Amino acid sequence: MEDVLRSLEEKILSSYKLNSLTKAFERISDRYRKGSGTFLQTQEERWVYLLTRLPATFATSVRVCQELRARRSDLTFQSLLDVGAGPGAGLWAASQVFDTLTKATLIERDVDFLRIGKEIASFSSLDAVKQAIWKCEDMSRLGDIESHDLTILSYSIGEVPEHSWKVFLPKLWKATEKALVIIEPGTPVGYARMMKLRSMLLEMGGVLWAPCPHGNSCPLVGQDWCHFSVRVSRSSLHRKLKSAELGYEDEKFCYLVIGKESCPSYSSRILRHPMQGSGHIKLSLCQKEGLNQCIVSKRDKEKYREIKKLNWGDVIT
Ligand SMILES: C[S@@+](CC[C@H](N)C(=O)[O-])C[C@H]1O[C@@H](n2cnc3c(N)ncnc32)[C@H](O)[C@@H]1O
Repeated sequence: MEDVLRSLEEKILSSYKLNSLTKAFERISDRYRKGSGTFLQTQEERWVYLLTRLPATFATSVRVCQELRARRSDLTFQSLLDVGAGPGAGLWAASQVFDTLTKATLIERDVDFLRIGKEIASFSSLDAVKQAIWKCEDMSRLGDIESHDLTILSYSIGEVPEHSWKVFLPKLWKATEKALVIIEPGTPVGYARMMKLRSMLLEMGGVLWAPCPHGNSCPLVGQDWCHFSVRVSRSSLHRKLKSAELGYEDEKFCYLVIGKESCPSYSSRILRHPMQGSGHIKLSLCQKEGLNQCIVSKRDKEKYREIKKLNWGDVIT
């Protein structure tokens, strides 16, 4: 995907002025920060999304698919349903992580975005991406949906009014054979949304595979919210559009992986960057019993060595 994006930059710059692309980026960011509504409204904004947001949404989708694979490495995913697919970040990510994928269906209501998605999919070397079926449909008005092993809603459900979730989410859940993934921005608003979706899916009989190590209520309260982070490289054009200096950004995200059947249990999820002290590491953990702090001393050599390899978002079994 990174290679395809690089080659698209030239094409985009031949159609739009840098100054105008920068303004389009500011409009998208403003809507994104407010956390609701239709984020992308013009063709120029769609291309800007591709340059500035797709690297991050692709990276989070890869990370979450890797988490799904880690939780149930015994499962084979052959088919994917990507809902609110935009240009297909979920498709590209799932195909990268699951080389067993042979079939993909993408649902996207914006016909112009769908065209862009199809165009970039044609550059892929993977059959699952190249041969994906794109459907121009509104997820809140879905009819019968064919079953797929894996369903992904990446940064899309937040664009749909909450009152219609109860209409289409049960349909998507029914059409999911093995697991359903939802990804939203790692903001308090994204987290609040995730908590509602978590309750709805558990009520439908779903089993929490990640990020929670339990199905109890979330122990985070007050100003705190459960979110994770992935580092994404920025191209030079990406930097210019954001008036940014760093060659990377940290994309914060919230997610849920809900399965149809049980998954091997694990004791803890690391909720923050591990804090390195002198002679110890301190971890903030989510556990079945609630939030916990764990300090591992360097003197406990074996455990310290194991813990030192772990990062924010990893599990302890
Ligand atoms: C922020 S983009 C995310 C795109 C992609 N999933 C990703 O991770 O990069 C949200 C997408 O959801 C689509 N969308 C929003 N509401 C929708 C609906 N009711 N039905 C289908 N697609 C919808 C938008 O058109 C847009 O392409």
